[in-house]
Amino acid sequence: MRLVFLGPPGAGKGTQAARVARHLGIPHIATGDIFRQAVEAGTPIGLRVKEVMDHGELVSDEMTNEVVRERMALDDTENGFVLDGYPRNVEQALAFEENLKELGVKLDKVIKFMVNGPAIVQRLSGRRICPLCKTVYHFVTHPPQYDEVCDNDGTRLVKREDDQPETVERRLEVYGKLTKPLYDFYDERGLLHQVDALGTTNQVFERLIGIIQDDH
Ligand code: AP5
Repeated sequence: MRLVFLGPPGAGKGTQAARVARHLGIPHIATGDIFRQAVEAGTPIGLRVKEVMDHGELVSDEMTNEVVRERMALDDTENGFVLDGYPRNVEQALAFEENLKELGVKLDKVIKFMVNGPAIVQRLSGRRICPLCKTVYHFVTHPPQYDEVCDNDGTRLVKREDDQPETVERRLEVYGKLTKPLYDFYDERGLLHQVDALGTTNQVFERLIGIIQDDH
């Protein structure tokens, strides 16, 4: 199953992509995670993208397409993937189409996460992540068992650098201008589906599984 999850920042794409990928036994590929890991590791890519990400802008298409191309070439994508955060604009979507063509595979579904402004603000303002294992928490809706430390490894949770209010505002602008046109792009190709992303994470997960298992 080859899936793309699309939606605004904070829609819950990463949370659900990790769970759906585990459920289907396929990799969860998130360009945001790949770039954040590069920043933390101080690799040449990380040094180039840090400032761009901290300002809520998009990393260059050239670099992003190359990173995804390399990731798609790994053997674990043979039975599918859940792609989260890519493509992010029409240029990336066209490059991705070429990439899939070269690999001789087709996308199955593109799922649009439907949320509203208040939910986005509530979700992003409460998000905390484990800097070690990358698990995503929310201090109200998905708190760790013990105050502010990761359930898996006890590491102190942190706020993402780009979850500051002014950066969130810019990320939402970029989403509106560059990512929203992808809904028409994939609708024209008969691939677009919508999920109601309001409600609990369990409810959204069940809806997603319904969409993924539906033959249409
Ligand atoms: P990226 O990491 O992709 O960020 P994003 O798209 O802005 O999405 P988020 O990770 O903020 O939100 P999400 O929808 O995954 O929500 P989550 O599940 O965490 O990109 C970051 C940056 O990297 C970009 O700005 C750009 O600079 C760069 N980049 C990445 N990809 C790129 C590309 N293709 N091209 C160029 N640049 C790129 O959930 C949010 C919170 O809500 C969590 O706390 C969670 O616990 C909670 N939550 C989730 N679901 C629910 C629910 N149902 N109810 C209540 N709370 C919930």
